[in-house]
Parts: sequence; structure tokens; C-alpha cells
Amino acid sequence: MALAGHPRIVVLDFGSQVSMLIARGLRELGVSSELWPYHRWRDAVDDPQVRGIILSGGPASVTAAGSPDVGDALFTAGRPVLGICYGMQLMCRRLGGRVEAGDQREYGAATITVTGESPLLAGLPRSQRVWMSHGDRVTALPAGFVALAHSETIPFAAAADPGRRFVCTQFHPEVAHTEHGLRMLEGFARGICGLTEQWSAAEFVQEAGEEIQATVGAGHVLCGVSGGVDSTVVATLVDRAVGDRLHCVFVDNGLLRQGEADAVEQALNGQLRRRVRRVDAGALFLERLRGVEEPESKRRIIGATFIEVFARAAREEGEFAFLAQGTLYPDRIESVSLSGPSSTIKTHHNVGGLPAELGFALVEPLRDLFKDEVRAVGRALGIAQPLLQRHPFPGPGLAVRILGEVTARKVRLLQAADHIFMQELRTSGQYDRIWQAGAILLPVRSVGVMGDQRTYEAVVALRAVTSRDGMTADWARVPDDVLGRVSNRIINEVPGINRVVYDISSKPPATIEWE
Ligand code: XMP
Repeated sequence: MALAGHPRIVVLDFGSQVSMLIARGLRELGVSSELWPYHRWRDAVDDPQVRGIILSGGPASVTAAGSPDVGDALFTAGRPVLGICYGMQLMCRRLGGRVEAGDQREYGAATITVTGESPLLAGLPRSQRVWMSHGDRVTALPAGFVALAHSETIPFAAAADPGRRFVCTQFHPEVAHTEHGLRMLEGFARGICGLTEQWSAAEFVQEAGEEIQATVGAGHVLCGVSGGVDSTVVATLVDRAVGDRLHCVFVDNGLLRQGEADAVEQALNGQLRRRVRRVDAGALFLERLRGVEEPESKRRIIGATFIEVFARAAREEGEFAFLAQGTLYPDRIESVSLSGPSSTIKTHHNVGGLPAELGFALVEPLRDLFKDEVRAVGRALGIAQPLLQRHPFPGPGLAVRILGEVTARKVRLLQAADHIFMQELRTSGQYDRIWQAGAILLPVRSVGVMGDQRTYEAVVALRAVTSRDGMTADWARVPDDVLGRVSNRIINEVPGINRVVYDISSKPPATIEWE
């Protein structure tokens, strides 16, 4: 289902690091919303289904020549507008207020005192904690505006022109540090824009099904499945829409977790009407990877081999005009580049991302969704919870968790260690608290002692992170006793490993995967 055609809010992005959180926050409230680069402001004004516009924060200064701007028409269209930080300054300057360049940035927590009334702040306490990040400040409001709140350092922390349904905040309601930020976004969407529609996964399933049928007609659809949440939800949606005209291909690259390929095949066959075509290509992948140590080379080889194997299996399966893919909203958001007017599509290494040269028309029913929404759709489709709560797993699989050359022996060693880690995370109830976890086989050996014997064996690192979207992550505080059990079991049960370490790096500056 495209969001177009539905009443919604458009967030115009002026380049803040947290712009996406505005759209995500609204979605969490059941309000349909999209993030667009600011230069598409005219499209937002022209679309009658856009019921409100939010101007995001951004790193530029409205007082500088050539800073990102919008036209007057945005403010004369009769549409409610919420300006946040840079958005507030832009709005106030355009409407005749005064903005001054500050000589000092105000960054971090601040307390505001609410002095005015607005649906934006309805029912919220007089004093509350917010998060600021600005250099410039508004020093005089445009005609028609009233102050809603001040802080110790700025006179206008929030303001509004109720007649024109304009509101603005110098702080960022979208970040978690702003105590009542979500309530404010809700106040704007429901109280000021009057949006009553509630996004529902069941309705999404219905509409996505109709859209898939309309796109595909009597055609057959090919879909690459991995057992991951996105491809499982896509395959199930398409299956519900076109039945056995959906053909799923599952490439087992031999680099999956222990027992995973069988489990994935079985789960999908229980879910879909046509049996999945599984291709066991582990030997081919290992052969291609022989002697290769450099991480990017490994990725390239695995990507190319995947496409080759997948395309061959697809040809054997039949002729297809359509390919279903699990592209998500964050994969295709246009990020604003303030160094030039051009906007670039963020490239993201997504599983099963197949090249356009294969010549299929794409069916991407999840293209407007965030990951948590995909899980909600999966639940509405009746997909088993363990399949939906699975951690993300990289397309190149264990190859990027075996540092250095990948061999069959190392894959088995890592699978065994990883399996113990996963088992213990599940039985201790930690699994669902963690975004992603796995074991990494290091290319070093260390000395140990087992019984009376000196050992000189491999080291395994455990990695577990918490995250919302994989873009940033913190190392998970897995309880000591769980880590202790994992370490004990790996060293005792997996011959060839005599030491276990825990990775305590956050992203950035580290990444989630080691390669
Ligand atoms: P990093 O290591 O960049 O990982 O912090 C962020 C997220 O992306 C996953 N990842 C991949 N997924 N193909 C994929 O399909 C890849 O090549 C790949 N590399 C990393 C990673 O597991 C994490 O969820």
C-alpha cells in the first residue's frame, strides 16, 4: 500500500540527523506520515491528502545566504505547519519575525515553562524537560504569533499562530530526551491537523493485497526468501494475494546458523501454498571463497554468487515478469545533502537486493514501512511470533563473522559456538531484549589449559547489541551469569575454542558486524 491517497503528514527534511524520528514518532501514534526532502515542499502543498506539514531541524543557519528555503505558498495554502528548530526559525523569518545568529550553541537538556495554550501542549505539565540543539534563535515573533513557552535561555521555546494553525518549537519533540515529545506530535496531528485515521496493520494487509493483485494481474511472481522477517512477510503477503502463482527461491549459501536452513524451509513451507525451492549451494560458496581474506572481496564474491545461483534457480522455476522484494522505508528515504541541491538515495546492504539488469518489475509491498510496522503486519498475517522476532542476520552470513579465510571447519566451529550463545539468550529471556547477537570467530589463537593439557586454540567474541534500526547501536548489558554460562559451555562443548570474549563497542564508532 502506498501512503499516497491517504490523509497524512509530510515532514520536510532540512537535514537534521533526527528527522526520520519525526515520521517514525507519528507512525507509532498511528498517524500516516512520510519524510520528504525540503525541496519537494510544493508537492506537499499541492497534495490535498497532506493534512499537515512539519519543517524539520537542520544544520544550516537561516541567516546565511543560500540556506535551504521554501516558498511563501507553503504558508498561504491554509495547511497547518509545525516548525521544529531550523523549521521554526525559517517559519518565523519568512513570516516577518526576527532570527538572530547566536554566538554559542545550546545543546542538550533544558527545562521549559509553558505559558500559553495550544493543542500542541494540551494536558502537559507547566514545567518539562526538552532537548535543544541550536545556535540561532528567534528574538521577535511574527505578527499573529503568541509565545507558548520559554526556557531559561530563550524567550520563545514554543510559539503559535492559532488562526493560521502554525506552531513551532525551538526544541526537538521527536527525540526521546524531550519528555512529552510524542504527546506534542500527537497534539499537532490530531488536535491541529485533525487527523483521525488510525494506521492499522489489518487494513494494510487488505490494501497491499489489492495492490499486488492489480499490479500482477494473472502473472507469476518470483521472491527470494531468507527466513528473515522482511522476506517472510513479503512472501506471505504475496502468497495471500496470488496463491500458488508465487514462487519462492531460498538459496542456502552454507553460511547460515546451525540448523537454520532446515528450520527456514520448514517454517516457510508451513506458511505458503507453493513449496519453496531450496538450493543447497554451500559447496559452491565455499569454493569461491577459498583463500579470500579481505572483507569487501568476500562480500562481493558472496553477492555475485548469490545472484548467479538465484537467477539459475529462477530460470528453472519458470518465466517471471515480477520480483517481490522486502525493501523497507528507511532503505529508500532520500537523504538531504546540504552540500548541494541534489538528494541521494541511501544505499543499504539489504538481503536479496538483486540488480535491475535481471529485468523484473518490482513488487515492494513493504516500501513505506518501518521495521516495527513490518512486524505488526506479520502478526496481522498470522506469522508465528518466533519468525517475526528473529534478529537481523547479514546476507553474507557467517562469512563476515569468520575473520580471515572462510573454511568448512571454521563454519562448523562458529555455528556450534553461535548456537550455544543463541540457546542461552533464549532460555534466559534475553533474546527479545536484544536487537541482534552473534558469535565471531577471531583469526587468533590463545593459550589455555584443559585438564593437564596445554591448549592453543581459537578465540570467539560474543557480540550483542541494542538498537532501534541498526544505524546506531549500543552493546547489550547481558547479565554476567548468562555470559558466564555461554562461555563455559562454548569452551567445554566446542573442541577447538578455548577462550571467549565479549565485545563492548558501540556503533558508532564500531559497526555491528566485525567485517
Ligand atoms: P553494520 O555492521 O554495518 O551492520 O553495523 C548494520 C546492520 O546491517 C547488517 N549487515 C548486512 N546485511 N548484507 C546484509 O544483508 C550485508 O552485507 C550486511 N552487512 C551488515 C548487520 O547484520 C546489521 O544488522
